[in-house]
Amino acid sequence: MEPIRVLVHGALGKMGQAVINAVSRDPDLVVVGAVDVKANRDQLQLPNGSGEFPLSTELESLIESTKPDVIVDFTQHDAAMPAVRIGTKHHINFVIGTTGLSETDLAEIDSLSRQNDVGAVVAPNFSLGAILMMHLSKIAGKYFDYAEIIEMHHEQKLDSPSGTAVATAKGMVETRGKSFIYPETQKESIKGARGAEYEGIALHSVRSPGYMAHQEVILGSTGQTLKIRHDQISREGFGPGITMAIKEVVKSKGLIFGLDKLLGLEKE
Ligand SMILES: NC(=O)c1ccc[n+]([C@@H]2O[C@H](COP(=O)([O-])OP(=O)(O)OC[C@H]3O[C@@H](n4cnc5c(N)ncnc54)[C@H](O)[C@@H]3O)[C@@H](O)[C@H]2O)c1
Repeated sequence: MEPIRVLVHGALGKMGQAVINAVSRDPDLVVVGAVDVKANRDQLQLPNGSGEFPLSTELESLIESTKPDVIVDFTQHDAAMPAVRIGTKHHINFVIGTTGLSETDLAEIDSLSRQNDVGAVVAPNFSLGAILMMHLSKIAGKYFDYAEIIEMHHEQKLDSPSGTAVATAKGMVETRGKSFIYPETQKESIKGARGAEYEGIALHSVRSPGYMAHQEVILGSTGQTLKIRHDQISREGFGPGITMAIKEVVKSKGLIFGLDKLLGLEKE
């Protein structure tokens, strides 16, 4: 079978580079082109030095010359949606990791991909381990009455708690169908010692150099604790989720939102 032809949009960015590395290592996939608004040369080297592929600032002309099956987009919101409008018109499937897309954007992606008979995967998190950590926490939360989440990120992260921590807490409460028990503090000698609280789950955010993205969910019941922990130590960790999405999107029609859907986890 011919390898799936991939065009990387946002190719010079941190995630774009990780996509090029992951796709180049997979024998079922091939990078055929790269687009970035910052492109200042017309070729990029494959990571193993075995060849080159075209780089451009012009998405539509590169689509016409390289004929990709899938565009992988890790750019920014105002770049992703115009790319989807151009790409779907040329009947190209999309894998999108860019964050900040609205419900309206998602509806448009679904509608454009259906109209043009292609698939689109949009996932706010392409880390298989993080998705599984959230899923396992939902299962375990049904059997434990106490839960705390500690998330650790690099010091440049602006928001707290992380989106993953909030999604984990919401998913656990929703699956369990009721709040967790939150032990009230009688005396808080330093304000905030118990962290933030969501439906009985205490959430703690650590910000420090030396971390990338880590999360530990601690579940407690009488006489035992269960800890579910995920550590993302490099962007390479997104590779398996992205290559899996590329292979699945060419078989689908319309929008698939979230890696959990691709993994078939949502029904469990
Ligand atoms: N879904 C996930 O798992 C996941 C993981 C990490 C990052 N992200 C998201 O991916 C996106 C990119 O993250 P990053 O860390 O690689 O950022 P980055 O700034 O390193 O890279 C973005 C790249 O997009 C390019 N770009 C911007 N506008 C463009 C345009 N109009 N046309 C073509 N290229 C354009 C930039 O020049 C840059 O090279 C962000 O939205 C981030 O939140 C998602």
